[in-house]
Amino acid sequence: MIKLLSHLSFVAITTPDVEASVEFYKTEVGLTEVAREDGKVYMRCWGDYYAYSVVVAPGDEPTLETMAWRTSSAEALEEAAKRVEAAGIQGEWIDGYKIGRAYRFTGPFGHDMTLHWDVERHQAPGHEASIFPDRPEKRSKIAGAPRQLDHVTVATQDVDAFVTWYVDVLGFRFMARTVLDEAPISVFSVLTTNEKSHDLGVVLDGSTRAGRINHYAFWVDTREELLIAADTLMENGIPIEYGPNIHGIGEQTFLYYREPSSLRIELNTGGYRNYVPDWEANTWKPSQGSNNMYRNGTMPMSMTESFPPADGPSATEEGVPDEIKDALLNPYRKQGQG
Ligand SMILES: [Fe+2]
Repeated sequence: MIKLLSHLSFVAITTPDVEASVEFYKTEVGLTEVAREDGKVYMRCWGDYYAYSVVVAPGDEPTLETMAWRTSSAEALEEAAKRVEAAGIQGEWIDGYKIGRAYRFTGPFGHDMTLHWDVERHQAPGHEASIFPDRPEKRSKIAGAPRQLDHVTVATQDVDAFVTWYVDVLGFRFMARTVLDEAPISVFSVLTTNEKSHDLGVVLDGSTRAGRINHYAFWVDTREELLIAADTLMENGIPIEYGPNIHGIGEQTFLYYREPSSLRIELNTGGYRNYVPDWEANTWKPSQGSNNMYRNGTMPMSMTESFPPADGPSATEEGVPDEIKDALLNPYRKQGQG
């Protein structure tokens, strides 16, 4: 198979209060607004090369409207669409905002995906242009502002089947997975189109609501910037849901917080760079520090929430069974470490 996909290019989310979310992304995350079109707000990080990387759209609930990958060539886009349809999924060709002809489909587990080759690159106005030729614009002056979009992590009822489909059909590399210590249940896997552990993650979803998102993530260049962002968030009354800490899988430093819709966003930095074309994914146990390299802090239960809520706008209960939650949240207990 030719290399089909090159990288995650944008994430489109819905939120009940577009203005509140946009204001949060501007002032607390450090994104800039680049355009408004059909009720959607197009935003970007200072280091994103294309016109936008985040689309904030109106909706009743926080949802993943689509996740978009740029293909490796025009031919790869045609090939990817053919492969999706050969796998029994019928998508549609659309004319996407500043991406031109794009193929959009709903994957077998309910996640909307957009594939495109054409793209409009960011052109900074004179006063925002960097003195460095490779930078799309000046570095942000906001503390801890991310350089670029990094990855998206979705939720599904069958993590292993999800991995198989995205590897077989679209050529993602399967990098690692987590299986519970107590039972042979896959709860997390990472897939990538590049040298990092993942630009697509997948967590177990115990609900019957298909196509949910757990979080999406931005990249900062250094751990120092991530720690400054953590400091700034705390001082401005933005709760940090989990972290700063280091994932065992991928070895990235991370922190999670929520945007006003309640959707979870993440800051990420560091981690390994893996170019091995025939990498064989290892299976981690939570007790080995798959989520927390130091094997000491327990993940808050709220991290098992995905979006939209499992049973609609008024739902408060997630579908993840208690024993799975317990195994995820207290992985070090049996070692006497937590
Ligand atoms: Fe993540």
